[in-house]
Amino acid sequence: MLRKIVSPALFLLLSALVIASCNSSETKPTATGSDTADRKWWKEAVVYQVYPRSFKDSDGDGIGDLKGIISKLDYIKSLGVDAVWLNPIYGSPNDDNGYDVSDYRGIMKDFGTMEDFDALLKGMHERGLKLVMDLVVNHSSDEHEWFKQSRSSRTSPYRHYYHWWDAERGKPAFRYSLFDVNHDAWKYDSATNAYYLHYFSRKQPDLNWENPKLRQEIYDIMKFWADKGIDGFRLDAFQFAAKDTTFPAFPKGFEKDFIQYYAMVDGLHDYLKEMNKEVLSKYDVMSVAEGAGRNFQDAHDLVDADRNELNMAYAFEGVDIAKPEGYSLLHFKEVFSRWDSVFAEKGWLSVFLANHDQARMVSRFGNDSPAFWEASSKLLTTFIMTMRGTPYYYYGDELGMTNAGFSTIEDYQDIATRNEYEHQKATGGDLNKFLERIRFSSRDNGRTPMQWDTTLNAGFSTGKPWLRTNANHTTINAAAQEKDPASVLNYFRKIVQLRKDNPVLVYGKYTLLDKNNPDVYAYTRVWEGKKMLVLLNFSSKAAKANTGVDTNKAKLLISNYQTASVDGTLQPYEASVYEL
Ligand code: NOJ
Repeated sequence: MLRKIVSPALFLLLSALVIASCNSSETKPTATGSDTADRKWWKEAVVYQVYPRSFKDSDGDGIGDLKGIISKLDYIKSLGVDAVWLNPIYGSPNDDNGYDVSDYRGIMKDFGTMEDFDALLKGMHERGLKLVMDLVVNHSSDEHEWFKQSRSSRTSPYRHYYHWWDAERGKPAFRYSLFDVNHDAWKYDSATNAYYLHYFSRKQPDLNWENPKLRQEIYDIMKFWADKGIDGFRLDAFQFAAKDTTFPAFPKGFEKDFIQYYAMVDGLHDYLKEMNKEVLSKYDVMSVAEGAGRNFQDAHDLVDADRNELNMAYAFEGVDIAKPEGYSLLHFKEVFSRWDSVFAEKGWLSVFLANHDQARMVSRFGNDSPAFWEASSKLLTTFIMTMRGTPYYYYGDELGMTNAGFSTIEDYQDIATRNEYEHQKATGGDLNKFLERIRFSSRDNGRTPMQWDTTLNAGFSTGKPWLRTNANHTTINAAAQEKDPASVLNYFRKIVQLRKDNPVLVYGKYTLLDKNNPDVYAYTRVWEGKKMLVLLNFSSKAAKANTGVDTNKAKLLISNYQTASVDGTLQPYEASVYEL
């Protein structure tokens, strides 16, 4: 049996929520009862992530820029989101697309000028949008002045801004590098006959957080941006910032265990507490670190409000589930339910299925075939927008953008992908297999130019884009979807509004139903007398949800089908949300 959606009034397109600060101007606490939540703007916000290189190019050089983003602020506002997380825009030689910073107080030439930044921030604030900046301080660029000085002599005042190991001591114990062609994190530098440490590429030497002078430099940089009025920091790779600088050998076989052996080393919490005291507590800024440590205890400790470190955890276990061979919904449900339960009483989570380090959400977790691309895109969006935690939503997912479909290594620009290809080549790996794997997983899948319209380069740039545009921009693009009230884009706007109108979707207790159903993800959210039911069919076939709830008696709030099912049998990739 099928029924029409009943409540179009809920589907107002634009958001009016102006978000306040986490440290001072907080959202009002809720009235009464055991459901009482500690309300904060950053819990209620929907964060939209913009990868500046790929969003909109204003000057035809094929690289997205700040003026391009400014020209699209009305679009971003129209989505109903509250905050924008911008990947790094600082001065950088771009070995890792800005995650190698050579000037923390300047703007990358490709992206524009400080005047452009000021105009961007002003334009955002005028529209009630917050700005969260990426802060990359586990490492800098090797072209940063600090590193140039540091490598110039063993007695340089900047020597201890980085980690050096004098070669006469022999080779240091192995450390794994994620991006190095050889995966060796120690690079020999003949200028001073010493090795320096780099967990990422050779051009991203790790900063030495043990050095108080370095820490003070970082806090001053943070103050520089906070004084400009930005609203938050995302701390890149920060869980790796603390190191045991005696660099002991790791137990045999565990040298590559990046999370267990490289993350959350003693000292990290002290640095965060100091950062909080020196900077975060003094400004209206929210803070989120990339990664959430080795276990739940770490994740909690990072964001427990009583500890005065960070605001919210950003954990990877959920987003890591999708594999080229597929994934099990039972596993997916188990992971997201477990994380929710651990944070049910205290602390706060981020909810996301994609970012600039992942391939596209619909290609990994949904079904990007023509028959199911639209329904499964909407389903995944429904999941993100109805879970407890702050949604982080990646640019282009609101259109259902898909993986790039590149077939040769030359199409890829990402350093991680290219260096791993070289590594495979040097070590006799199967290159065809590798190419097949990266078609599913390379980070460049999620970095292709934003698909604005059907014109040249999807309306992203009049010049040759730095990364090839996805050929499907002629069918998947914002202009076409603007005109269609049932598009993926307009569905996104509706469900963002639904979340805004219903704090139960932000704060409500989460309960998993029909736990062992391999196709359907069903859960309720309850808060202050309100109860919602979310039904998600993650399969390409009709599937029955055994929730014990008679949806005939429930009010259908939103569905990705024109006609939602009410007898518990869900259509392929159906997503329906009810008020009970
Ligand atoms: C994590 C960032 O998200 C990723 O894009 C980057 O390559 C590494 N950190 C190094 O900064």
